[in-house]
Amino acid sequence: MARTIPDASITAMLAREEALFTQRNPKSKQLSEEAARNWLRGVPMHWMVDWGMPFPLFVAKANGVDVTDADGNAYIDFCLGDTGAMFGHSPPAVVEALRREGANGFTTMMPSADAAVVGRLLEDRFGLPVWQVTATASDANRAVIKWCRAITGRSKILVFNHCYHGAVDDTYVTIDGGTPHADPALIGEVRDLTQFTKVVEFNDVAALEEALAPGDVACVLAEPIMTNVGMVLADDGYHAKLRNITRRTGTLLAIDETHCMSSGPGGYSGEHGLEPDALVLGKPIAGGIPAAVYGFSHKVADRISSFLKTRAPGHSGIGTTLSGSKIQLALMRAVLETYFTREAFAPLIALAKKLEKGIADVIIKHSLPWHVVRAGARVEFMCTPQRPRNGGEAARLIHRPIDVALHHYLLNRGVIVTPFHNMMLICPATTGAHVERLIDGLDRCAAELLS
Ligand SMILES: Cc1ncc(COP(=O)(O)O)c(C=O)c1O
Repeated sequence: MARTIPDASITAMLAREEALFTQRNPKSKQLSEEAARNWLRGVPMHWMVDWGMPFPLFVAKANGVDVTDADGNAYIDFCLGDTGAMFGHSPPAVVEALRREGANGFTTMMPSADAAVVGRLLEDRFGLPVWQVTATASDANRAVIKWCRAITGRSKILVFNHCYHGAVDDTYVTIDGGTPHADPALIGEVRDLTQFTKVVEFNDVAALEEALAPGDVACVLAEPIMTNVGMVLADDGYHAKLRNITRRTGTLLAIDETHCMSSGPGGYSGEHGLEPDALVLGKPIAGGIPAAVYGFSHKVADRISSFLKTRAPGHSGIGTTLSGSKIQLALMRAVLETYFTREAFAPLIALAKKLEKGIADVIIKHSLPWHVVRAGARVEFMCTPQRPRNGGEAARLIHRPIDVALHHYLLNRGVIVTPFHNMMLICPATTGAHVERLIDGLDRCAAELLS
């Protein structure tokens, strides 16, 4: 029978680990005090304080999986910039492309010679033929929504409860007590988002069918599995039903692979034979330098071309100056050629399986009420016995205090997992020894929590 971890153990561990963190990181503490003078919340991006430590950890350098903080403490990084560094920090092929192309211009507002090659590589790897570049995945998702609304003439979109697609206001609608409402945490949004965004639970075919039946939804924007509220897998056959219902109702299907591109060289869609109308790839596509892309099928691209013939001249509201730049294209080419190959992914997936098995063994050894899931090179454990089937369930199940205590414990022992949930990525620089270090840390942490 699963054992219960007493709340008092979690609280005591957190207090011990916070004290240890403060003791180990005097330089970070000093830097955080100095930075507080000029940065909102003391950090260059306000959510950097949300990791949950007593003060932010300041990084001195990062290479491969190795991170060194300002105090000289060394870490093995399984967070990898929450996928931005999916191929390791400063991946060699990207550094080499930067060295080679860095002196030849970053941005010109004109296409570079790499454009044709990168377009072909994107089609080859991800199946869709027509692409555009943006600076972030958030930008790409916003653009996809706009194109879908424009060519369908429909105002609404549909997202899944507790999804995350970046800083895209239209997607911040959740279901609370059966009623959709705008996420109260959203800053500075003045529209009634529920007017234009429908929300249903992932894996709920009947709700999807009902929401799309009126034929007023331009697109469903979906991660193929949910990765931002723990990890919620798709039920067997769910994607076939999603595709069928969207086709039947004239709704476009946009798959956001920003995280799930860790599933394999063709992303989750490629691995599982999905047939999206639009696809978004972000974070690691240029090795962690700001770049994202979105792709369309021929059918959608033709509709866009027809639509553009009717458009009034002027600003389109899609596109930013630094998007599609020479340096983005050079780095994307390096990433696609070097890392988005079956050969490059095979060892990552093998090591991710080892990590999954190791965590499962720790769970069994200590009879923990936890579970572990994996998709390609991405592994996640949740401190709940049952696997959630949708975002609503997952949001209710995530047990923050224990996650925070675990993160602190591992961090103080030189292992970084992703904040806000327990996600771990394998990159080309990760070794079996690194994986064993994480499993051993978790084993010791569980033993302490239960002692
Ligand atoms: C699925 C998904 N889409 C889009 C984004 C937004 O990416 P960015 O912050 O690089 O714009 C994220 C960020 O975590 C994400 O998880």
